[in-house]
Amino acid sequence: MKHSNNRVGATPKPGRRYSDAVQSPYNIGRGDLVYVTTYGCQMNDHDTERMLYQLELNQFLQTQDPSEADVIIINSCSVREKPVHKVMSEIGTYRPLKAKNPKLKIGIGGCVGQQEGKNLLAKSRLLDFVFGTDTIDSLPQILQEVRDQNKRVALTSMDHRGTYEISTLIRNPKVSSFVTITKGCDNFCSFCIVPFTRGREKSRLLSELVTDVKVLVERGVKEVTLLGQNVNSYKSPDGSGGFGDLLRAICDETQIKRLRFTTSHPKDFDDDLIEILVNYREKLGDFVHLPVQSGSSQILERMNRGYTREEYLEKVNRLKNKMPHVALSTDIIVGFPGETDEDFAQTLSLIETVGYENVYAFKYSPRPFTKALKYSEQVSEVIKDKRLQEINDLQERLAPTAIEKYHGQIFPVLVEGPSRTNQNILTGRTTHNKVINFDGKMDLIGHIIPIKVIKAQQFSLRGEVV
Ligand code: 5AD
Ligand code: SF4
Repeated sequence: MKHSNNRVGATPKPGRRYSDAVQSPYNIGRGDLVYVTTYGCQMNDHDTERMLYQLELNQFLQTQDPSEADVIIINSCSVREKPVHKVMSEIGTYRPLKAKNPKLKIGIGGCVGQQEGKNLLAKSRLLDFVFGTDTIDSLPQILQEVRDQNKRVALTSMDHRGTYEISTLIRNPKVSSFVTITKGCDNFCSFCIVPFTRGREKSRLLSELVTDVKVLVERGVKEVTLLGQNVNSYKSPDGSGGFGDLLRAICDETQIKRLRFTTSHPKDFDDDLIEILVNYREKLGDFVHLPVQSGSSQILERMNRGYTREEYLEKVNRLKNKMPHVALSTDIIVGFPGETDEDFAQTLSLIETVGYENVYAFKYSPRPFTKALKYSEQVSEVIKDKRLQEINDLQERLAPTAIEKYHGQIFPVLVEGPSRTNQNILTGRTTHNKVINFDGKMDLIGHIIPIKVIKAQQFSLRGEVV
């Protein structure tokens, strides 16, 4: 990234200050306020943090209130259902703000930005700039052109260099933090737009990732979640190891207390990973998110998932044999083209057989560029709705039994902070990745303490300090 040699020294607006970790050497923002909305996955949440880091570095300040913003950014997601429509209607809601503050600039980033590029500029005069998943670090320069030269800018180039070198940029790391280990995806599941919006899969260097975690630990982080579209196909570009080696290195060489990862792909979920989960249970916990997408081998083949129903179930069995207490969650797509009642019945039976604690079910949504878009046997919305409801009903029937077993158990819980819904109580997650809320003093934040489950509900537990 190139910077002009601008001077230092904008004064933050009254009542605001820059985050502790951020120096402010470039004065592109002049203390103006930026508001960001984020859609989609944890990768997008993490990208938003990267944007804000870059912007604070250049003397913008974050606001939570769009009506006082000088820059509004929508970090978009295009994985499902009418994403362009969604961002365009959000932009429409900002029309009165633009009338009030002619200086206000509005931009779209993330996967819709990547997918649509400059076409978006033609769709709305309210939109001033578009950037993609690989141009986040250029955001300050884009804003300089937009604000100071009054240009409309679309920058969605992809960096196709052999190596993937970025730094983990987090302003004020909390107890729990993210580290991106790979970008992009080479799997080309036939329903999925990600390989087109995030490009070819590239891994960061193992040694740099270990260093990043060490630095985060020094800054007070207790838990890191490793992020990638398909984390278990991670491969360090210098040949120093795969995903298993990375997990081992981070567990052995850093003082991180908890290490999580998302998302793992069933086809790459092997015995080595199971062994690591067993050996490093204290740090890795008892939880795996393993998206199956469908319980029918015929549909899995058409989805290009690279495994059959039987192979998936066999892996789950091997995992459960070694880790009898493991909690599993999954993603399901209903109404994929060609999915018959019989195929869907197999999905329901797989959900029952595995006994997931959480099932995230989605209606199939045709996506541009993907292979399944051209499949002829599209399923009607009515049937998709019906199947989605059936999955939710099934999960509602199964979940209480899955959750009830936690009642009375004591878990070592990493205290993350005050609960989002009630600032007077604390929240954390059990080793099974269940949110647990409890009363306690704020100085417990960042510590791992034993908490007894006193009430078990589907989405969160209630506990008390032992
Ligand atoms: N339609 C519906 N769901 C999708 N997902 C990905 N692409 C689509 C699509 N075209 C779901 C998958 C994936 C999750 C992140 O989103 O279940 O695991
Ligand atoms: Fe999409 Fe499949 Fe890659 Fe996941 S593994 S990001 S579903 S193409």
